Amino acid sequence: MRVLFVTSEAYPLVKTGGLADVVGALPVSLARLGVDARILMPAYAGLLDRVEVTGPAIDLGEALPNVRARLVPARDLAGGRSLILVDCPALYERPGGPYLDEHGHDWPDNFLRFGLLGKAGALVAARGAVPDWSPDVVHASDWQAGLTPAYLSLWGERHPVTLFTVHNLHYQGIFGREILPMVDLPDHVYQVDGVEFYGHVSYLKAGLFYSRFLTTVSPSYAREIQTPMGGEGLHGLLSSRAWALQGLLNGVDQDEWNPATDPHLPAAYGPDNLSGKAVCKAALQREMGLAERSDAPLFGVVSRFVEQKGIDLALSVVSTVLDNGGQMVILGSGDPGLEWHVRGAAAAAPESVAAHIGYDEGLSHRIQAGCDALLVPSRFEPCGLTQLYAMRYGTLPVVRRTGGLADTVIDLDEADAGTGFVFDAADPGALAEAVRRAVAHYREDEGAAWRRTMANGMALDFGWDRVAREYLGLYGEVLHAP
Ligand code: ADP
Ligand code: GLC
Repeated sequence: MRVLFVTSEAYPLVKTGGLADVVGALPVSLARLGVDARILMPAYAGLLDRVEVTGPAIDLGEALPNVRARLVPARDLAGGRSLILVDCPALYERPGGPYLDEHGHDWPDNFLRFGLLGKAGALVAARGAVPDWSPDVVHASDWQAGLTPAYLSLWGERHPVTLFTVHNLHYQGIFGREILPMVDLPDHVYQVDGVEFYGHVSYLKAGLFYSRFLTTVSPSYAREIQTPMGGEGLHGLLSSRAWALQGLLNGVDQDEWNPATDPHLPAAYGPDNLSGKAVCKAALQREMGLAERSDAPLFGVVSRFVEQKGIDLALSVVSTVLDNGGQMVILGSGDPGLEWHVRGAAAAAPESVAAHIGYDEGLSHRIQAGCDALLVPSRFEPCGLTQLYAMRYGTLPVVRRTGGLADTVIDLDEADAGTGFVFDAADPGALAEAVRRAVAHYREDEGAAWRRTMANGMALDFGWDRVAREYLGLYGEVLHAP
């Protein structure tokens, strides 16, 4: 079976969040099951220097008016993943991130940048753009890849079956109607049964409307997005397509996230030998300038700073953490106002609260290892990966009961083999109560109760191999669907 992944990011090549972790890992696990999986993504600045080009570049011609692009077959040097990179310096070769410029603003030509990605996906899928290789299944992710299924459906030619995964319904790729001719889409798609969304063009809706099958990244989120509360304006379309929609939980890359072999950690540990975790805690306290106190329950946050993640809620419990003798370390970046508040919280109590504003893969691992608990107070969370990493690292997650958080963390008071603390309301009081429960558990029985809960989480298997088998089963089903 051949599967083409169309994506805007993939770890370790480009990452802004969990989408990269997923698209970096799933094809590797699928390959172990005999699937020929290739990842199509933009050749962002410098990317071509970090891969091994494996074949001649292929001209895409005037894929979009006035945009010349090439496809470059390549191999990712780190993991051997098969890549097809869309090389178009005019659109991708620039400083800043994949979606935002250096000042944090959307690139104004994102409609073209991801229009081209979508078009390239369709050209590979249906028009033989890569000689001797065409996929059976096209698996596109999020709005950035939303136009691939649209072109495939609109061209009306024979094409592989399309599967679209929603990693986050909140990001929709909304542009003005005037962009349609610029991305070579006919005006008639501008209607409710098409790409029109409240007077604009939505690339996400294009993906949802034109793909044959849909998935999202947890069963709870699959239900939530069909409701007015969680549907971000698309619940009508999603519930009308409920028969085609499934929620499959993400996995964890267990090579990347393994406290026994993690090169980012000062000491290794595992479920049978936890002493290295205490070393990691002390080292993290030193690294972050916190008082080196082994008895202080240390709470961590590793997150993008956006409304979704409830960073404001996390800040609201700093005083609860401190009043209970705890400490807090926060890693993340995003909203400048939140960054300012996080810096302020750290400055006000430097021995007990530390922050690193920015993106730091190594530090994210050291926080997962060095903390006792991880706060994930998200307002919504399609799957969430940090709570999974936390459990694997023996760090107890404190999560809101939503989406994938609800599907993966078992509240201590609700089951024998609890793995963390789950709270319901997205308000400071509910999170503070969960933090108090966590501290009480931490102090129970001189830590023996806490260690049992750690063991429950560390024993769970969230590996990709099981998830990859589920996707493979789904590909088989969609291929043979009438
Ligand atoms: P989302 O994709 O919504 O951001 P996930 O929990 O699925 O949420 O994935 C987030 C990923 O990004 C995890 O791998 C997490 O460790 C990582 N991450 C988030 N913020 C940072 C940061 N500031 N530095 C390093 N890694 C980060
Ligand atoms: C999105 C979601 C997150 C999910 C990730 C990978 O970024 O916000 O919950 O884990 O995609 O699917």
